[in-house]
Amino acid sequence: MTQLTARTPSRPHVHGIFDKTTWTVTYVVHQGPGTACAIIDSVLDYDPKSGRTNTGSADRVIDYVKSNHLKVAYILETHAHADHLSAAPYLKQNLGGKTAIGDHILRVQDLFKGIFNLAPGCKTDGSQFDHLLADEEVFQIGDLHGKVLYVPGHTPACVAYEIGDAVFVGDTMFMPDVGTARCDFPGGDAKTLYASVRKLLSLQPQTRLFMCHDYPPNQREIAFETTVAEQRERNIHVHDGISEAQFVEMRTQRDSTLEMPVLILPAVQINIRAGELPPKESNGVAYVKIPINAL
Ligand SMILES: [Fe+2]
Repeated sequence: MTQLTARTPSRPHVHGIFDKTTWTVTYVVHQGPGTACAIIDSVLDYDPKSGRTNTGSADRVIDYVKSNHLKVAYILETHAHADHLSAAPYLKQNLGGKTAIGDHILRVQDLFKGIFNLAPGCKTDGSQFDHLLADEEVFQIGDLHGKVLYVPGHTPACVAYEIGDAVFVGDTMFMPDVGTARCDFPGGDAKTLYASVRKLLSLQPQTRLFMCHDYPPNQREIAFETTVAEQRERNIHVHDGISEAQFVEMRTQRDSTLEMPVLILPAVQINIRAGELPPKESNGVAYVKIPINAL
């Protein structure tokens, strides 16, 4: 007798590399030495005081990929980050792979092109990325199956990546004792984030969830892996029983107390270009703009 059973998702190896300057976790997802991998949310170090970039964080990723003989299939972003610069172009140059982001990035490009009054040559068609991913789109990392989950709210273009039994949630939720991401950047919306979080929390309870950041309270060690079940039970902002209205009220009140991230102005200008610096001016130097009283 033949029995039909639900397909068990594969359990990829997930290596997190924590950047302590921006509290960001870069992930390398793979199935063991010598296999294909995806890199998610890389960091190019940037010192806002001097305007200097540095590849220390990205080089840690390169070292890990090379020492495990991994072949990079994708260099993914969950969204256009406001707190760090992406190292995608540097990683692509050194490791290969296709850069990709959610296809709603066009809206974010358009929004910030207006805010920064970027030159007409700065395209808002997403063409800076090798591939734009639609909601529910599936992709392959060697034998691993990946799927895109559109989860807007923190920004209008956020996506999460479901790869085997692991989901990379980007800036939707943080660890249960930290809560959720802010929704007050241009195009952000707390009600929309609530719906996105509930969508993620409707996945199987044992699904592993990997955070894009950790901001540990008190003396807790850095942590960035949890599960759907744990978030539903303990997340301080969105555990089961918190209504949309309660969440929106809490999020809106809290966001009104937050300062802008230190790197939002350089980070967004560079990240909407898929991590490429703005074109060099006639003296060979690239510049970022600071809009006065615009944010
Ligand atoms: Fe973010």
